[in-house]
Amino acid sequence: MLDLSLFPPSALVDGEDLLIGGCSLRAIAERYGTPAFVIDEGSLRERAREYRTAMTSRHPRATVCFAVKSFPSVSMIRVLVSEGLGCDVVGAGELRMALAAGADPAAIVMHGNAKTDADITAALDARIGYIVVDGFDDIDRIERLAGPGAAVPVLLRVSPGIDADTHQAMATGGSASKFGVSLDQAPGAIARIRAGGVADLRGLHAHIGSQITSLAQFEAEVAALAALGERFDVYNLGGGLGVRYEKADTAPSIAQYTQALLGAARTHLGAGIEVIVEPGRSLVAPMAVTLYRVVTVKRNARTHVAVDGGMGDNLEHSLYGQRFSPAVIGRWDAPQALADLVGRHCESGDVITPDVPLADPRIGDLIVVPVTGAYCFTMGNNYNAALRPPVVYCADGAARLGVRRETFDDLLAREMPVNGT
Ligand code: LLP
Repeated sequence: MLDLSLFPPSALVDGEDLLIGGCSLRAIAERYGTPAFVIDEGSLRERAREYRTAMTSRHPRATVCFAVKSFPSVSMIRVLVSEGLGCDVVGAGELRMALAAGADPAAIVMHGNAKTDADITAALDARIGYIVVDGFDDIDRIERLAGPGAAVPVLLRVSPGIDADTHQAMATGGSASKFGVSLDQAPGAIARIRAGGVADLRGLHAHIGSQITSLAQFEAEVAALAALGERFDVYNLGGGLGVRYEKADTAPSIAQYTQALLGAARTHLGAGIEVIVEPGRSLVAPMAVTLYRVVTVKRNARTHVAVDGGMGDNLEHSLYGQRFSPAVIGRWDAPQALADLVGRHCESGDVITPDVPLADPRIGDLIVVPVTGAYCFTMGNNYNAALRPPVVYCADGAARLGVRRETFDDLLAREMPVNGT
């Protein structure tokens, strides 16, 4: 029988079907087509509340900002904002999405290692909560664009010199990081912000990376900020908590994470500070699945099970070697054999997960891949002019479309008649 431990909490086997939020995945595939992202909306809301309560019950001045980059859809932001979360946005585009979703500007934080004038102007115009200063050029830009006396609330991003135990591309807090200023440079940046008299430095920010499962590394991050000596009113400690993708994986719970992080904050930084966290993956990854249909099965030197999506909707294996735990819907008890679950795109790197047990998949079968709620939709692309999938929200037996499937007309809409056609 299917092990549901990696699936969204409402997942339920119903004969040869799987229900999410009380909705049949077979019916969703018929109605919306495949591939499709399917969200367990009730559990997503619960998880947002769990995050908020885990923070505020341990530390009254605590804010949870959803890292919009992990699922930048107005539909997703609207759900999370309605549960009382703020937003972490990178650049003017994500800010535009957050505002369109009705996020309170005061609860928005803007990041970016290379913010343009347009990004900063958008943040100033919207009067967001904090702009996170990533380096000296940001300070110049804010001063030039905001003008004297503006008192723009900012945090300074510090790279705390911690090489997080994660994929190299997702580690952001080491001494060679492109993000923030180093611990050595921080005092100079702090003095520079204050001397300018335009940005109002309220506190510090750090984010050491993503898919991190060692709580000690988060505690070390807090200690590194404290070692700078000065105390601030606000500390944004980033996101980064990892999740389980495969049965053998382990990851701290939200309760364990917030306990460790806030414990370290209290010890090193004091009880009265405002603490912000910016979860992406740990909030949304486990709350969605991707639904595919098998297009072809090839038994050569290896067995290739190819579905109607792939690296157009999931780059995690191609970029980071991330493995998933797919299941063939309805073949719960059929004998499993190792196969490469691959996509329909024109390169050999188009693999969802290699060497994964699958139960006798055949053409037309539905394959469900859990834990695809973070960074899959967002890095979706049109390789081979593939159409990006829809996002379907399921709750209480009702399915609602949050994002429609892209159409060929969408793809053609940006084309200009340069060749006279
Ligand atoms: N805050 C900042 C400043 C960040 O850069 C990030 C993620 C987060 C918060 C949220 O981190 P999370 O809680 O989701 O770990 N493209 C990669 C992930 C890159 C993460 C970038 N920054 C992937 O597909 O796995």
